[in-house]
Amino acid sequence: MAESTPEGSPESLLPHLGRNPREQAGFVNPAIHRGSTVVFDTLEECVGAHDIDFKDGPYTYGLLGTPVERELEAAMARLDGGEGSVVLGSGLAAVTVALAANLSAGDHLLMVDSCYWPIRKYCDDFLGRMGVETTYYEPMIGAGIEDLFRENTRVLFMESPGSRTFEVQDVPSMAAVAREQDATTIIDNTWATPLNFRPIEHGVDLVVHALTKYVAGHSDVMLGAVVARNREHWDRVKATAMDLGHGCSPDDAWLGLRGLRTLGVRLRHQEEVALQVAQWLLERPEVAEVRHPGLETCPGHEFFKRDFDGGSGLFSVVLHPMDDDALARLVEGMQYFKMGYSWGGFESLLLPFDPIEYRVDMDWPHSGPCLRISIGLERSEDLIRDLEAGLERAKNKP
Ligand SMILES: Cc1ncc(COP(=O)(O)O)c(C=O)c1O
Repeated sequence: MAESTPEGSPESLLPHLGRNPREQAGFVNPAIHRGSTVVFDTLEECVGAHDIDFKDGPYTYGLLGTPVERELEAAMARLDGGEGSVVLGSGLAAVTVALAANLSAGDHLLMVDSCYWPIRKYCDDFLGRMGVETTYYEPMIGAGIEDLFRENTRVLFMESPGSRTFEVQDVPSMAAVAREQDATTIIDNTWATPLNFRPIEHGVDLVVHALTKYVAGHSDVMLGAVVARNREHWDRVKATAMDLGHGCSPDDAWLGLRGLRTLGVRLRHQEEVALQVAQWLLERPEVAEVRHPGLETCPGHEFFKRDFDGGSGLFSVVLHPMDDDALARLVEGMQYFKMGYSWGGFESLLLPFDPIEYRVDMDWPHSGPCLRISIGLERSEDLIRDLEAGLERAKNKP
């Protein structure tokens, strides 16, 4: 495992977590052990492989973890202040495993209405078939969530902020209610990363991350992690990942660790540029609303100021109504912003969306198009020029 790391701010830990040059012939980065089979010297070790400690015990089989995965798991746990973490092959796998680990037939789940859409599909289709009932709740409900708890509510799931409409939730109040009700709390913390928000400090049990986004940071890998508050939660998540045959490629875990090294500087740039672009958009006559947790008008901005150490590069803009041709002229002619479903990488992206299409109960006053904006590593003046030209194209028919 990693050599002891210095104390300090999470940003200063990033270059040091998850590596041990003394065990790597002096090289600063860990080696990748690509493999399925692990061989044993003694009968006792071989037969005992089923009962070992899968977190810190000897390695036994590729799917159950290799050294580089454990380094990434230890790094994520340290950053988030958890007892341990489990890395998996995607952010979605992290969410579905964390949910499956805590739900059984006959249970009830409280899911935030602003959740990532495939999670919604998993709840409605897969969990529905397995006999779990889901209630979607309004993200700004706060301690009022208490009224939605039932005798069989086992999990409260939060995503703060929501990754399209950016409502910031009152996580400490909601986690306190869930604890009183004896339910497990899970939060998707992909937007903030552990650098800017550490939900375990606010009472949450399990933190899921799509490491695919800011942590890996280079749009070249699918990766997820579940960080557990305590060993009991970790054991349940690990056992469920094993039951479902979920693991993580060591090459991908290595890319995740490499991404962590530069996460701090990338995120600071993306946060700064995103705020500049958001402020600029606010002044444009074509814009109806900008949804960015750092803006006072964003639902839950007060919780953002209270609980977060900073933001990231993802936010949304709502435009005044325009026809589809105008929207196509805007988004298809961009120089820097390409259209794409991911975010958190080095390249800036745009995603047109309509929240009304998938939310159950949303008070949405707008009828114009929404664009989610993921800021990459470009400079703000170039991105603003690109957006300005796009807004002009939308107005002017060719
Ligand atoms: C908020 C959020 N959580 C989870 C995921 C899932 O991550 P992955 O794409 O790695 O499965 C995504 C993906 O876009 C996301 O936006």
